[in-house]
Amino acid sequence: MSAFKPGLEGIVAVETEIAEPDREGGTLRYRGIDIEDLVGHYPYERVWGLLVDNDLDSAMPDPEPYDPVQLTGNAPSDLQAETARFSAVWKLGKLNEISDEQAREDLGRISAQMMGIVARSARIADGHRDDIPMEVVAQGKTAAEKFLLQWRGEADPKAVKAIDTYWICTGEHGLNASTFAARIVASTGADCGAALSSAVGALSGPLHGGAPAYVKPMLQEVEATGDPEQWVNDTLDAGKRIMGFGHRIYRAEDPRSRILKETARELGSPQIQIAERLEEAALAELERRKPDRPLKTNVEYYSALVLDVAGVPPRLAPAMFACSRVAGWSAHILEQKRTGRLFRPSARYVGPAPRSLAAVS
Ligand code: COA
Repeated sequence: MSAFKPGLEGIVAVETEIAEPDREGGTLRYRGIDIEDLVGHYPYERVWGLLVDNDLDSAMPDPEPYDPVQLTGNAPSDLQAETARFSAVWKLGKLNEISDEQAREDLGRISAQMMGIVARSARIADGHRDDIPMEVVAQGKTAAEKFLLQWRGEADPKAVKAIDTYWICTGEHGLNASTFAARIVASTGADCGAALSSAVGALSGPLHGGAPAYVKPMLQEVEATGDPEQWVNDTLDAGKRIMGFGHRIYRAEDPRSRILKETARELGSPQIQIAERLEEAALAELERRKPDRPLKTNVEYYSALVLDVAGVPPRLAPAMFACSRVAGWSAHILEQKRTGRLFRPSARYVGPAPRSLAAVS
């Protein structure tokens, strides 16, 4: 049996053709294409087509009319529950019994619908009880526009650009926890609804996907002190981490952070100045204290600003992340289906030695 690695760090569990985070070069490529060449040139739904079908002329379909059972306004929970229901409502076939083409169709239908569920759940959280009519939603030209129309009944161009950029930048990133969860469930031959809802469950934890929620309050705190250098020193002296810095994979700058920073600037984020001042202070001090460990700005830092420009409240950040990941999850579910191999790692037993029942009764 091979050595135990907590968190499976460094263990290669799959081979993938979908995305390549270039650890040293600070780039992220989807099917070989640098994401910087995609943002602003192709809308998210076409990037979905690139990731899932390896074809930029393909796209995530438009959402079809659908009535969720009862949304609560808690978007991750609503999304997980409703996505699981598609198995029954749409009578989805098991992945080991349907063709790749059928699985692709199921993934497209569900992906489009998942965005709608988040939009409708966000609308309920905002206190609305009515649904925006589908004719109005259908007027949106892109997935981001449709999402905003379904959420708020209007799609401000700045918000559209912010959400589209954020979704493309965070659409796929290799074998993270939620993608692994989706692949594990897909490997059992379960249907696409089961695999995608499991991914949403994995993403609802604060360690994966929720960090933008902490960045905005942090920036407000730094702004109130008026002294980013002092704040950084105090935070690090207290043994705390600065949210939005450091990454498991990238040793160079996280390319997604670079793009999102540019977008935050361009869209006139009200927090851009304090964010840049804090970034400068944090990078300098982290480098001074940890010269051997490159700790650069990660995707979560400027994501927070871009989502803020779009009027996305911090509590909605994990569900927005789930919307973007429908592309990566779908691509991985299809890739997993094609391997046809069930995941079944081993556990090393370290419990009590054999003992009699009398010893415990
Ligand atoms: N602020 C201050 N110190 C940090 C830091 C941060 N953001 N990130 C890492 N470090 C330090 C750790 O304290 C540790 O120091 P030590 O060796 O003296 O104990 C060292 O750098 C290595 O940390 P480690 O947790 O092993 O690094 P990692 O690469 O496995 O972790 C993260 C990656 C993202 C979990 C980590 O950088 C982090 O917690 N960042 C803040 C939270 C965040 O931004 N999350 C969003 C991730 S996209």
